[in-house]
Amino acid sequence: MQSVQTYIADNKDRFLEELLGLLRLPSISADPNYREEVRQTAEQVAAYLEKAGADGVEVIATPGHPIVYAEKILDPALPTVLVYGHYDVQPPDPLDLWESGPFDPVIKSTPLHPDGAIFARGSCDDKGQVFMHIKAFEAMQASGSLACNIKFMIEGEEEVGSDHLGDFCAANREKLACDVILISDTSIIANDTPSLTTGLRGLSYMEVEVTGPNRDLHSGVYGGAVANPINILCKMIASLQDEHKRITIPGFYDDVEELSNAEREALNKAPFNADEYKKALDIRAVYGEEGYTTLERVSIRPTLDVNGIWGGYTGEGAKTVLPSKASAKISMRLVPNQQSDKITALFTEHFKAIAPAGVKVKVMAHHGGEPAVTPIDTPEYMAAHKAMEKTFGKAPIPKREGGSIPIVALFEEVLGVKSVLMGFGLDSDAIHSPNEHYGVFNFYKGIETIPYFYSYYAELKR
Ligand code: BES
Ligand code: MN
Ligand code: MN
Repeated sequence: MQSVQTYIADNKDRFLEELLGLLRLPSISADPNYREEVRQTAEQVAAYLEKAGADGVEVIATPGHPIVYAEKILDPALPTVLVYGHYDVQPPDPLDLWESGPFDPVIKSTPLHPDGAIFARGSCDDKGQVFMHIKAFEAMQASGSLACNIKFMIEGEEEVGSDHLGDFCAANREKLACDVILISDTSIIANDTPSLTTGLRGLSYMEVEVTGPNRDLHSGVYGGAVANPINILCKMIASLQDEHKRITIPGFYDDVEELSNAEREALNKAPFNADEYKKALDIRAVYGEEGYTTLERVSIRPTLDVNGIWGGYTGEGAKTVLPSKASAKISMRLVPNQQSDKITALFTEHFKAIAPAGVKVKVMAHHGGEPAVTPIDTPEYMAAHKAMEKTFGKAPIPKREGGSIPIVALFEEVLGVKSVLMGFGLDSDAIHSPNEHYGVFNFYKGIETIPYFYSYYAELKR
């Protein structure tokens, strides 16, 4: 029998070709115009699972985009791994900043990816990483080396808040029963510095609208006497952080988990080069909450950021207008033990309270999600640790990440199962940005590492 790694080596060019095909499908979940393409992508993921040897492959309709399910149950006595990922992608805008088409994948080398990187929307987040699991499964099947039962749940609404996944999980507890959830939708520190993600931030996403006069006004005739909603909105937003860059919403920090000095020291041991960080972003200085390092600011501390702001005249030339309305989208990243609903309520109350009498304020909540931490003293974490150590030749460093995968906390709540976050992207892979890419090295390293996870897990779980 051929070994799993030989199978991978013999088929790696085809694996890459197939991924490029998947990346050509614009599965933009946020845009209703792409509903059909999203569905086609689900069908294609299902077809690859079927071909790889999975049973019970289904494309399950939801009120939103479909969920792809598949499984291979070898023996109920073996541990069961549920692989979660998403086949939907972020909108590619702004299009003019892409050097090649977002759905026309090309491979180019970069300083961090000398062996080449695949440039396309979704290459890293998360089609490329989902595809590693499908191909690792194919290789384990073909070489008769699959050591655990395996279930796949690949969704199409992650980038829009996973609105229908919670209900699906609650209604399918039996079907989804498993010992661990395995997710590759995060990053490693560097290609020569593997890491395992042990925490994710939560999210409260708000939209606010400030209304002044009942119509746009001449800024000369009325200016100076009537509240300008854009001026007011800017002031209100600016007041949400104090001079120490602490968030001023009363009660905001009440539940924030404070790490011990030992934990903070350990966290700051991760390799981080401030000069390279600044250089890569073309900034002269970092900026953030006083008393915390950059590594802490992007992992264990909560944030408040304006994601978009609009109102008034933004066309060519100058138009003298005192606008009637101004709006902004504001996200808050949350850390353990903050709760999304509670923070949303605190924000809403505070934002209304700070509005001056001359304006009316509307506050709306978009999606939220809870933060998550994963234990490091479990057989599944050890299996992932050993797998990465084997293929990178270096032990992975545990690290908390700043992004959010709300489903991780939900899985724990609904299914009572913890996740292992074994991603292979780099923070610099430009996910959600123009020119998103994923290292060819990273893609193959994932496929190589995943089978070791299964064999170590089967061993350690016994
Ligand atoms: N894969 C990301 C989350 C992520 C990125 C985790 C980098 C760790 C490191 C995921 O697809 C994502 O973008 N999540 C959204 C939240 C969602 C509710 C839209 C996010 O973090 O903004
Ligand atoms: Mn993702
Ligand atoms: Mn994403």
